[in-house]
Amino acid sequence: MAHQQYTGSIPAQIEHISSDCTAAIAAATSLQELDTIRVAFIGRTGHIALLMGVLKELSAEEKREWGPKINTLKELLVLQYEERKKALEDAAHSAAAHKTATFDVTAYAPGQMRGSIHPYSTTIAEIEDIFISMGFEIVDGPELETDFYNFEALNIPDDHPARDMHDTFWLPKPHHLLRTHTSSVQVRALQNRKPPLAIAAPGRCFRHEATDASHDYIFMQCEGLIVSESISLSNLFAVTKTFLQRFFNTEQLAIRQRPGFFPFVEPGIEIDMSCPFCTEGCSTCKQSRWIEICGTGLVHPHVLRACGIDADRYTGCAFGFGLTRLVMLKYGIRDIRLLHEGRIEFLEQF
Ligand code: FA5
Repeated sequence: MAHQQYTGSIPAQIEHISSDCTAAIAAATSLQELDTIRVAFIGRTGHIALLMGVLKELSAEEKREWGPKINTLKELLVLQYEERKKALEDAAHSAAAHKTATFDVTAYAPGQMRGSIHPYSTTIAEIEDIFISMGFEIVDGPELETDFYNFEALNIPDDHPARDMHDTFWLPKPHHLLRTHTSSVQVRALQNRKPPLAIAAPGRCFRHEATDASHDYIFMQCEGLIVSESISLSNLFAVTKTFLQRFFNTEQLAIRQRPGFFPFVEPGIEIDMSCPFCTEGCSTCKQSRWIEICGTGLVHPHVLRACGIDADRYTGCAFGFGLTRLVMLKYGIRDIRLLHEGRIEFLEQF
């Protein structure tokens, strides 16, 4: 193709060179091949140049007629060459880019770290599933609370000694705090709903207290509240026990119930679980063989009234599970602080 000598009339040569060169440019698959075509057709000694040489020997009239046509052909072929060159260069670039950018995200890499689901996340999902299956609605409330929702509406006025039980992180803004318990969500739920209602609210709490194996300054609770006509202690015991049986997947619970004091319930009860970490007392159970997992009781009429509920018609029961303690008991975590430290060796186990 490249070294073939064109013969015949000038218009015939123009036509053949045009169609051959156009076809060769379109068929070129590499820059190198394209350059050979350029040299053969539009290079200094190529077919177009040869044709111009032939033209020199023709009459002035023929030169005027065919000279511009040969030039136009050359310009056209140069244009086609440039376009094809650009297309081949672009294809080469993207092939190279693709080669370097291609990697397999699933490929094994030595020393690779694997993510895992935090036991909190697993436990919250489990707890929510259990309560939903028991007809509860899952609700949420703010961690940054006001004095009213955390204390006042829960029958804990300003001068009440029960405030000392909650070592509170007060905020620089007056009457604002980090909630010390999820019971604040009870108040919000009562304000926004009409009985009968059953809500559960897992969430983070904050207390300005010294840490030990079973206490942290950040921990989680799961609040529960049922308000309806004639709710009694039987409902409270049935619901808390059923929840625990489902959560620990056993009918044989090692729990005990004892009186407890919370101003927003009457009577108040605390639920403890037998310590699974020892037989004779340890730092997790503070040598007592029992771990406190829940505060509970029948909702105090003052609380119902403060939230606009008719306390003569409705009664309620409420409970606040120490969700962090439930996680510890279920997963055999002896020290609560491990849950918040973010240590990879610890988290990798889940
Ligand atoms: C309360 O916070 C009440 N709001 C619970 C309640 C709700 C009572 C509804 C009545 C009705 P208490 O301070 O005991 O109660 O905390 C409840 C549970 O949270 C405890 O049993 C314990 O399991 C857990 N808990 C309390 N403080 C901490 C802490 N510093 N670290 C980890 N868990 C804690």
